Amino acid sequence: MEDFKSNFDISAGVTYLNTPGNGLIPQGVKQWRREFEQEFYSSGTDLRDRQQDFINTVKQELSSFFNGSPEHTFLTPNFSFAYNAIINLLPPTFTYLLLEDEYPSLAYPLIAQRRAHHSIPVTADVETQLMEAVTYYSPDVLVISITQYISGLQIDSNFFKKLKHQHPELIIIADGTQFLGTQVFDFAQSGIDAIAASGYKWLLSGFGNGFLMLNETLQQPLNERVSDIPPPTVPMWAGKTTLHTFFEPGHQDCIAFGTLRESLRFMQRQGMQRIETHLQTLTQYAYNALSQRGWLLPHIQQRDQRSPLINVQIDPRLYPKLQNHKIMCFPRGTGIRIGLHLYNNPTDIDRLIDLIEKQ
Ligand SMILES: Cc1ncc(COP(=O)(O)O)c(C=O)c1O
Repeated sequence: MEDFKSNFDISAGVTYLNTPGNGLIPQGVKQWRREFEQEFYSSGTDLRDRQQDFINTVKQELSSFFNGSPEHTFLTPNFSFAYNAIINLLPPTFTYLLLEDEYPSLAYPLIAQRRAHHSIPVTADVETQLMEAVTYYSPDVLVISITQYISGLQIDSNFFKKLKHQHPELIIIADGTQFLGTQVFDFAQSGIDAIAASGYKWLLSGFGNGFLMLNETLQQPLNERVSDIPPPTVPMWAGKTTLHTFFEPGHQDCIAFGTLRESLRFMQRQGMQRIETHLQTLTQYAYNALSQRGWLLPHIQQRDQRSPLINVQIDPRLYPKLQNHKIMCFPRGTGIRIGLHLYNNPTDIDRLIDLIEKQ
């Protein structure tokens, strides 16, 4: 198995399994961040006057990493900001479909902004259920986390293409926060119309950075909504469209977005395909060990799609004991949630299991 671990600072005795909460930043990226901050805030630099150029490099690299387009990629402080802005912009008459027990930031804006919506339960055959629900309810928009934050259920990536093929009018807005960074992802080929994510988990980028990518289909209703608003003309906003004034209304943090850019470069150097293979091998190892012990959620066990976010079905009251042994994880739902990223190896899983069995 590849050794990616040596690129990270993990203190002796710590088993880091909390990527679904927040991921680690690679050593080299942390060093870049320290040096950049020093220079960025020094008195004699012009870096602070060239923020837009810097931000444009982030957009360029981010959109190329996920095969989006830089003009339709927006940098936001986190997932929730991007998602709220897009819901705000879509016509208030639109109806929505979502899954029960979604991450609260997905469901709440629909409630708060009084948007008509239906939700369906998460089952082992969730893709079939979603397909039927789209036919039954005819929603304008499906909003969905590709990987669910409590159970780790990961939607089959081919499903979005099939759904789009059968319902070309449906707008698909995806939350990629628990998914992007775990495998190769091509936005242009995905069937998804908008994807937003925070960078501090699987993208190894720390807090304060997130993004939104839109495709052509979604440009139209959004542009229609803002078509009667005069575009900004002041020279300092040259290059901003009306949509930018909603998604990127003010100055952006070069340190936060620079960290995202550097972490993407780091992942690119390792190779996303290699990272994907590493995670698949590790995930398979964990599924085997946990399934033998009856520690997987039944509806997850039945699925072929396996995500590296796993809810281990043990008593969540064991959490303080795991914490005492420096196993970094988190109680969620009916179990303890773990995540397996490139800095993990089978020893981490063995250590977790050993400790649980000794209790
Ligand atoms: C499914 C999912 N989406 C999004 C987020 C992050 O959203 P934000 O950073 O806006 O709170 C999380 C964080 O736990 C999550 O689990």
